[in-house]
This record gives sequence, C-alpha cells and structure tokens, in this order.
Amino acid sequence: MSRRPLVAGNWKMCKTRAEAVAWCTDLTAGLADAEGVDLAVCPPATALAEVAAALAGSGVGVWGQNVHQAESGAFTGEISTGMLVEAGASGALLGHSERRALFNEHDDQLAEKVVACLAAGLDPVLCIGELEYARDAGSTEQILDEQLRRGLAQAAPEQVARVTVAYEPVWAIGTGRTATPAMAQEAHAFIRGVLRDFAGDAADGIRILYGGSVKPENAAELTAQPDVDGALVGGASLAAASLLAIAAATRP
Ligand code: PGA
Repeated sequence: MSRRPLVAGNWKMCKTRAEAVAWCTDLTAGLADAEGVDLAVCPPATALAEVAAALAGSGVGVWGQNVHQAESGAFTGEISTGMLVEAGASGALLGHSERRALFNEHDDQLAEKVVACLAAGLDPVLCIGELEYARDAGSTEQILDEQLRRGLAQAAPEQVARVTVAYEPVWAIGTGRTATPAMAQEAHAFIRGVLRDFAGDAADGIRILYGGSVKPENAAELTAQPDVDGALVGGASLAAASLLAIAAATRP
C-alpha cells in the first residue's frame, strides 16, 4: 500500500503569536514545494488558534503538542481535546520524549489520551523511542514494543488504523545525531509489525514518521526507506523554508 508522506513541524516552546503568523505567511507562499506531501505544524497552545486561522484552507494540519485525557476539570496547566478542537487543531502529539522525560508522562496515561483524541475527532500522533542506553544494551525493540502496546492498549482495531506513530530515538532529538537510514528502517519495520498485531492489514496504511535531528540535508535518505513515511521535525521546522525543503526532499 502506498502511503502519502507526512512532514510535521514541532515548535516546542518557541514562537510568539506574531512570529507564528509570520511563519504561516512564509509557509503558504512556498506550499508548491511540498506538493504530494501532507504537512502539519504543532504550535505552542497560545498560538494555536491564530495558526489555524492563518492556515485555514491550506490543507496544512495544526496539532497540539500535548493534550489531557479528561474533558474538563481541576487539572491546572492542562488543555482538553475539546479546547484543541475549538482552537482549530486536527490532531495532537502524544508522549513526545520531552513530555515523558520532563513531565513524567507514562504509557498508561498515553493510552487514555489516544482514545480521548479519537473520541474528539483529533488524530493522535503517538511518539515512541528508546534512550541511548537502551539502544546500546540491544533493547530498542523491547522498548518500542512496550511503548506501542501499552499506548494502544485501549484503542479498538479500527481506531488503531487512525493513529500516526512517530519513532524518535531519544538520543537523536536535538542532538544533531540522526539514526542511519538502515537503523530507522529497521525500527519502523518492527513498529509496523507490532501495529499489524493490533490492526491487521490496516497497519500497511498507518504512517510512521521518523524524528530526531531531521534536516533538509538528511531527509531524503531517511524518508526513502520503505517504512519511513515522513518526518517529525523540531529545530529545523522553526524556519518555514527549512520545513518546506524537508517536505520537498520527502516527496516520492
Ligand atoms: P529535533 O526534534 O528535530 O530538533 O531533533 C525532533 C522532535 O523533538 O520531535
């Protein structure tokens, strides 16, 4: 099955609303470069509605960087799925390694977030990846298997088909080090095998993004791998031109 590539930018805690809107202007001016590739951006929550308005009609997805599993309540600092939808989001990153490492997010909570997103009509983008010591110890597949199985534990098979997975080796995030294309392919093929256990043949339609120091110079060789269906880009997404260059390099 051929999967349409997807390139998403994660700004993390960067950009004011004014900077975010300026980025959208730059992106929409260059969208022809990304033809054939789906695009998405994850702005900080404060800029989400403005980014969604600036990108309305462009086909570019707008995703939250995180979301809470409850509909509302006493969860200071959190944002609900309904709030994201109202602000114009179409999806949400779940379990980014920074959320896991710095904010103690764990797989069981992510399992709840996955189904909360699906119930609200948001596309869940489940991020998984091993720490450096796990790779060195040869336990990458064990970690990926566990994160994926626990993260998808509450989703029905037909719901799993609506999930996007982002494989982000933690040692490659923000470090300038990337997995080799062969390492990425090996991990992505393994992930697709686990997805097959959940979703059967629909696993062939699930997009698995690679993330970790993706830039215009290395995007083509990574995304040329058969199971690498696009990229989740941090630092190199802060300039629209660079995200567009990555999308252009990703085009089949
Ligand atoms: P990076 O971040 O591209 O800056 O390594 C990727 C990510 O955190 O999603």
